[in-house]
Amino acid sequence: MKILVIGSGGREHALVWKIRQSPRTDKVYCAPGNAGIGEMVELVSTRPEEVEKLSDFAEKEKIDLTVVGPELPLTLGIVDLFEKRGLKIFGPNRGAARLEGSKAFAKEIMEENRIPTAAFATFSDPDSAKRYVARKKSCVVKADGLAGGKGVTVCSGREEAEAAIDDIMVRKAFGCAGDKVVVEELLIGEEASFMALTDGEHIIPLASSQDHKRVFDGDRGPNTGGMGAYSPAPVVDPAVHRDILEQILKPLLAGLKRKGVRYQGVLYVGLMITDDGPKVLEFNARFGDPECQPVLMRLKSDLVPLLEAAIEGRLDQVETEWEDGASVCVVLCAGGYPGPYQKEKEIRGLEDLKDWGRGFVFHAGTAKRDDQWVTSGGRVLGVTALGGNTEKAVREVYRAVDRIQWEGMHYRKDIARRALKDKVAGG
Ligand code: AMP
Ligand code: GLY
Repeated sequence: MKILVIGSGGREHALVWKIRQSPRTDKVYCAPGNAGIGEMVELVSTRPEEVEKLSDFAEKEKIDLTVVGPELPLTLGIVDLFEKRGLKIFGPNRGAARLEGSKAFAKEIMEENRIPTAAFATFSDPDSAKRYVARKKSCVVKADGLAGGKGVTVCSGREEAEAAIDDIMVRKAFGCAGDKVVVEELLIGEEASFMALTDGEHIIPLASSQDHKRVFDGDRGPNTGGMGAYSPAPVVDPAVHRDILEQILKPLLAGLKRKGVRYQGVLYVGLMITDDGPKVLEFNARFGDPECQPVLMRLKSDLVPLLEAAIEGRLDQVETEWEDGASVCVVLCAGGYPGPYQKEKEIRGLEDLKDWGRGFVFHAGTAKRDDQWVTSGGRVLGVTALGGNTEKAVREVYRAVDRIQWEGMHYRKDIARRALKDKVAGG
């Protein structure tokens, strides 16, 4: 098969890495990819949002399967377009991708289907939003549309909430993503990520994981795209797992179906595991980044037949097999990230890890100048290891991290610490 992966981050490197291992794969392309992905497969210099151009490419090159990494092309309707042209593509169509593209839509559908989530109200003008937050001690203010993960502010008082509303609705910090705001109740608990493959009817849960959104150790500092992830997440115990399936995923798919929407692809649920059980923070219409890296590292099964089964509505006929141990991904970032960051810094140590048997270094923001690797993005590398258990995977991953270096590089030293603590506390 000829397979095209769309996107340019660590998630897409992991997808390409896994897809290449499939005996069904003959040739893989990535559009636009990055320098690390370019070491593995042929790059196509088309951006993810150039959906017409991508469909022209897929038709011309007779691509058998296209896999969409990021959310933007999904919300632009890339899947609808490919399907219209008779091209096979993995991912939700435009209507289904609204689950990620509009927080107000996601909240509405959760309310209609009694899916556990934070209490909320939606506003299209700043004054009524401000009147609402005036009565709250704490709340979470969210831009309705896509804001690259930056449209959410956890507020501990009226002033902070008003400032967040002004940012989103008056200053339009996220453009028309801020035409509406959602104000939510603050949930307390531990966060987890849960991804599932679905064909709209059947659900194949993927291994659980946990992201680390804040930039500094101990969950301090501003939010980022994700500083590291590990799988499995012990907080998703069998009871929580059952609740996620029965109270969230099944009613969601049934609710979408009643609206005439078929969801095909990966459904990502961002969760707060509260004392009252799991509650939804957000839905994403794609693999999480960096969660995709450790989760795919643990997937023993061939990914390609799973993606095909999702497209063809046959997920009830496939099974997944997982490595028993754990996988941990540590994201190495450029100096300054998540603010304005440094570029073109020479990266040392990557050659040493070329034959690393127990892990892989996924590239997110690198470039090659002559024969030298340099940084080109905020999140630069996702160093990912597999181990017999979380403790071993953590030790392995940080041993590898120690070999990599560039000026200004920073990363979290406590990825997966929570899972280790749980293990100690739980015996
Ligand atoms: P979101 O993009 O909606 O997942 O929000 C980004 C981050 O904000 C989440 O990962 C949480 O850390 C935090 N967050 C969002 N909504 C809530 C909420 N209702 N209560 C507590 N924290 C939240
Ligand atoms: N790691 C969170 C996300 O992909 O949205």
